[in-house]
Amino acid sequence: MFYISILLQLLLSAAVASWLVSYYPRSICAFERSSVDFSCMFDYSDYRILKTTYWFKPEAHQKQDGSQVGISAYNSEAAKIHQLYKNRTAYANRDKNCSLQLHNVSKSDTGMYFFRFETYSSRGKYTGPGGINLSVAVLPFRVTVKTKKVNEHIHEGDSVTLTCSTENCTPTQEPFAWFKNQRLIPEATDSVLQITSVSHDDFGNYSCGLKNSSTTSADEILLDVRYSPKNVKIAVLSSGKIQEGNSLTLICKSNANPAVTNYSWFMIKEANVSYIGSDREFSIKSASQKDGGQYFCIAKNDMGSQNSTVTPLKVEDGLLNLTRRKLNVICLHLYRRKLFTSKKQPAEQTPAVTVTEEIYENLRKSPESEENLTTYVTYVDLRLPSSTSDRPHCNSQDVIYSLLSYKD
Ligand SMILES: *[C@@H]1O[C@H](CO)[C@@H](O)[C@H](O)[C@H]1NC(C)=O
Ligand SMILES: *[C@@H]1O[C@H](CO)[C@@H](O)[C@H](O)[C@H]1NC(C)=O
Ligand SMILES: *[C@@H]1O[C@H](CO)[C@@H](O)[C@H](O)[C@H]1NC(C)=O
Ligand SMILES: *[C@@H]1O[C@H](CO)[C@@H](O)[C@H](O)[C@H]1NC(C)=O
Ligand SMILES: *[C@@H]1O[C@H](CO)[C@@H](O)[C@H](O)[C@H]1NC(C)=O
Ligand SMILES: *[C@@H]1O[C@H](CO)[C@@H](O)[C@H](O)[C@H]1NC(C)=O
Ligand SMILES: *[C@@H]1O[C@H](CO)[C@@H](O)[C@H](O)[C@H]1NC(C)=O
Ligand SMILES: *[C@@H]1O[C@H](CO)[C@@H](O)[C@H](O)[C@H]1NC(C)=O
Ligand SMILES: *[C@@H]1O[C@H](CO)[C@@H](O)[C@H](O)[C@H]1NC(C)=O
Ligand SMILES: *[C@@H]1O[C@H](CO)[C@@H](O)[C@H](O)[C@H]1NC(C)=O
Ligand SMILES: *[C@@H]1O[C@H](CO)[C@@H](O)[C@H](O)[C@H]1NC(C)=O
Repeated sequence: MFYISILLQLLLSAAVASWLVSYYPRSICAFERSSVDFSCMFDYSDYRILKTTYWFKPEAHQKQDGSQVGISAYNSEAAKIHQLYKNRTAYANRDKNCSLQLHNVSKSDTGMYFFRFETYSSRGKYTGPGGINLSVAVLPFRVTVKTKKVNEHIHEGDSVTLTCSTENCTPTQEPFAWFKNQRLIPEATDSVLQITSVSHDDFGNYSCGLKNSSTTSADEILLDVRYSPKNVKIAVLSSGKIQEGNSLTLICKSNANPAVTNYSWFMIKEANVSYIGSDREFSIKSASQKDGGQYFCIAKNDMGSQNSTVTPLKVEDGLLNLTRRKLNVICLHLYRRKLFTSKKQPAEQTPAVTVTEEIYENLRKSPESEENLTTYVTYVDLRLPSSTSDRPHCNSQDVIYSLLSYKD
């Protein structure tokens, strides 16, 4: 509306200068298949009578300044409308309003457009100077990445400009949409996406298009931000529990661009740091207690390096964990002295004492034993707890026979 009031002002001031054509806008960038509006007002000496009004486009070989009349995009004598523009134009056709709508524009519509009117007076012919420059944007969009550096990698901290453009020109009146790894960046609605200080989080594939249309999207372009390893950490893989005999693999995980080239593994034991490996993975074929300790790795690429956090590794002993099971140990205490030394005094013979104790101990594991403990023959490695009760208790030297049973 703003420009219309300007046009009206121009028209008022033009009442004196009688011959006038005003165009708005002077330059248009439109998408293929869209419609464009050439706003136009004109004036002429009232005592003359209009014969024809038309919009023309100079042909490619003609002068583009309006001095040579080209083909008619619109003509008040309909037969003179060029084939290319038939049924695609709507002329305002109101007093002093020469606005034209052009539908379904294509690349071949690119060029200058001028409004011209002729009166019945031989000298009463006038072409509005300047014309309107129409460019047609050819989809799809494409993303271009610019930095101040030439032929150099993008590093963290650099200022980066991503531009969303189409061939020939880019219509900027539409709201744009930007996508990073196919996800909309809600705050980016301009044809230009400026990142003043790029970080590793900005690494990714970018695409753009029009906010209201999914079909216009550009092919993805990789914003290849180079950065030193980040989030270096250790992942522990184990064939089962982290316990003696099992194989273990420690993996040095990180996020880096370009990919990590050198890994170093270290183990800390009793304040000694020792270098133990140089691959991404550190493998232990058969874990033992001495593999327990603190581990860390260092990941390095061209951009720098980072140490992982120190990860403790505890290798459990390989005994079947019976902590929560109760073992009943019945032990026979034999009073050797009394049994075997004094046959003369049978009255003093003390019968064997049977003691039942509940102990919490480990039993060496064998593959089958876990499933069918009651029938599996198992050698037991017993450590007997010191009894706190005053009842008789198992004393390791005294144990001759042990009978084990389970209570869950
Ligand atoms: C223009 O429209 C008329 C009637 O709507 C139709 O008869 C004619 O074929 C159309 N011409 C072109 C070139 O599309
Ligand atoms: C001229 O005509 C067009 C199309 O009918 C209309 O949209 C526009 O508002 C008119 N301009 C003026 C200044 O009346
Ligand atoms: C628009 O123009 C193209 C050729 O440029 C044509 O193929 C298409 O059918 C036209 N669309 C409409 C709706 O007239
Ligand atoms: C029309 O505008 C384009 C840019 O959008 C420019 O390259 C071209 O030279 C202009 N044409 C004329 C005749 O001014
Ligand atoms: C970017 O796109 C390429 C090609 O489609 C793909 O290989 C790559 O994994 C993508 N990168 C990210 C970070 O999504
Ligand atoms: C979406 O954009 C197209 C192309 O500019 C436009 O023609 C259309 O009116 C828009 N649709 C909506 C719903 O805004
Ligand atoms: C990184 O590894 C390469 C070969 O794998 C080796 O030549 C280079 O010396 C290593 N760099 C460092 C700093 O360890
Ligand atoms: C740690 O280093 C000290 C001194 O070099 C050495 O006496 C000690 O045995 C080392 N400990 C281990 C666990 O290697
Ligand atoms: C990373 O580990 C190395 C080797 O132990 C050490 O020299 C260096 O100081 C560590 N860097 C940081 C930042 O902790
Ligand atoms: C045994 O199990 C208990 C409880 O489930 C656990 O706290 C303990 O660390 C385990 N010990 C071994 C050696 O697996
Ligand atoms: C345990 O052993 C008994 C006797 O040999 C057998 O009948 C039973 O099927 C076994 N149970 C399992 C779970 O193997």
